Amino acid sequence: MSTPFCVNLSNISATEALGTALAHLCVPGRQLCLDGPLGAGKSTLARAIIEQVCGPQLDIPSPTFTIVQPYDALAGYEVWHMDLYRLTTAQDALALGIEEAFFDAACLIEWPDKIADLLPATVVTISLSITGELSRRAEIFASEQEQAIMSDMLGSELS
Ligand SMILES: Nc1ncnc2c1ncn2[C@@H]1O[C@H](COP(=O)(O)OP(=O)(O)O)[C@@H](O)[C@H]1O
Ligand SMILES: [Mg+2]
Repeated sequence: MSTPFCVNLSNISATEALGTALAHLCVPGRQLCLDGPLGAGKSTLARAIIEQVCGPQLDIPSPTFTIVQPYDALAGYEVWHMDLYRLTTAQDALALGIEEAFFDAACLIEWPDKIADLLPATVVTISLSITGELSRRAEIFASEQEQAIMSDMLGSELS
């Protein structure tokens, strides 16, 4: 895998701006894995992507208990926000229909390690770490071409 594209996020607005910039990857058949410890900002990032792709939402709950929360993209496909923290077995994820969602929907996946064996090799992984009370660091693992696009999009506003 190539070297990740790294971004320092000095506050929540920067994390939201990253989500807006990542929204072009949130299309059917693509999976964005959001990695990192509790409080790293995975759900914050997911919310920003969802609002960019689906329009403003009244509420974007963290689907900790329902595991999956679907949204309708403005472009007419489904976006599945998954929080796999409480998933017991990968089999349970299959029962929720995630394999079909991998094809038909765009997927935002928190705690992707829970289904590591089921994930396609083409996932984009955004790994968040906590670097301070309000600061986070994002490492984005994507193809070189996608990283170059992101670098162009983010270079001026976030670096
Ligand atoms: N730069 C930042 N980006 C994202 N969240 C931040 C940032 N700084 C502070 N926070 C806080 O960290 C928490 C992140 O929560 P959340 O997005 O639910 O994380 P996760 O889904 O990774 O557990 C929120 O309380 C948010 O206000
Ligand atoms: Mg979360």
